Amino acid sequence: MQDSIELILKQKIGLDPNSVGSRIIARALEQRQAACHLADQAEYLKLVKSSPQELNQLIEAVVVPETWFFRDQGAFEVLRNDAQQNHQTQIRILSVPCSTGEEPYSIAMTLLEVGLTPNQFQIDAVDISEHALAKAKKAIYRQHSFRGKSMPNLERYFQQIGDRYQVLPEVRRSVNFIQGNILEPHFLNAKQYHVIFCRNLLIYLDHSARQRTLDILDQALLPMGLLFLGSVETPQLTNRAYQLVEHSAAFAFRKQELKKAPSIESKLAPKKQATSVQSPHLSPLAPQTFLAESTLIPLETAQDLADRGQLVPAAELCESYIRTHPSQASAYLLLGKIYQGLNQMKQAEQSFHKAIYLNPENYEALIYLALLKEQQGNQIEANRLRKRAQRLIPSSSQSGNLL
Ligand SMILES: C[S@@+](CC[C@H](N)C(=O)[O-])C[C@H]1O[C@@H](n2cnc3c(N)ncnc32)[C@H](O)[C@@H]1O
Repeated sequence: MQDSIELILKQKIGLDPNSVGSRIIARALEQRQAACHLADQAEYLKLVKSSPQELNQLIEAVVVPETWFFRDQGAFEVLRNDAQQNHQTQIRILSVPCSTGEEPYSIAMTLLEVGLTPNQFQIDAVDISEHALAKAKKAIYRQHSFRGKSMPNLERYFQQIGDRYQVLPEVRRSVNFIQGNILEPHFLNAKQYHVIFCRNLLIYLDHSARQRTLDILDQALLPMGLLFLGSVETPQLTNRAYQLVEHSAAFAFRKQELKKAPSIESKLAPKKQATSVQSPHLSPLAPQTFLAESTLIPLETAQDLADRGQLVPAAELCESYIRTHPSQASAYLLLGKIYQGLNQMKQAEQSFHKAIYLNPENYEALIYLALLKEQQGNQIEANRLRKRAQRLIPSSSQSGNLL
């Protein structure tokens, strides 16, 4: 019975059951069956097939709404640099999936910060989850949505309400939330965008849904527009006419004007490397707003360097930190990601293993290692790691309940 449900989810939202794990789907099924007061799964299957509302409820129960403000800082630096050079009268941006809103609001804050006025840009933010969108529209967040990063200009864009923070109306007004399924893109009304953020969705989709999503995004992106993907999703663009944006984080791609643009395969090779550790204070790319530079500790500095594409000094800093803190799982996780960026897959694998050995509940390390195994063609090991990671996700996150 679960196979039939998984097939429905695959057809509707492109979900690869291995990406969330069969156990999560089984739990979602049990929850929905109980909520509908149905005696067995066969009855529930009938209901899901006949009721679009119930299918939506099931989708709510399986999607992963994990997100936070300024996730992968490098993307926002690229956006900022691009906006500064952009001469459009109005920049159109699509954030899909936007989940609970942290991503599109981070985009808006980045553009306001470079001096654009709200009428100089327009952000459409799309997600399939009504639940996530309801939270996005309320725009009230707990500390968790900042993932421990201090935001010096917090008061410029947020109003504090007790222990929560609400995004100010000026920022909220610039984001237009839309409920939609990326695989059924009629909600876009054939609109085209200068910038598209599509991060941390492809990893949950099966192969054909990934390709279809990329085709849809390709149609929605203007020539020379920018496409942002998640850090482990970039190989999906191979053989498409996109170029990695130079001197930046590795996950932004410029759509080429000509059909016969060079493949990005060569661009996915290790990035240009700096030879020394630069102080974040001196770098011209230093984010002016959301980095608490004076309080940066070595790992944060290493992360920051890595976000700027300075992978060799980032690795050096990480390694020297590990020499004095040999049992810190997060340091190995970061080092693994940096090695991955440097295309040193063996070292990346060892680092992820070490991170998991030190902290068997390190969700991110499990997912990174799973993706790496997948790339190596070891699907069995990848599935095992993904299942292990999924067992760590609290049921509240699975149902979109972040706040
Ligand atoms: C992990 S969040 C990513 C949010 C944000 N882009 C980020 O990187 O932080 C994944 C989101 O994808 C949404 N989603 C899953 N399948 C979708 C689909 N077919 N169309 C639109 N949104 C979808 C989920 O509802 C969830 O909110």
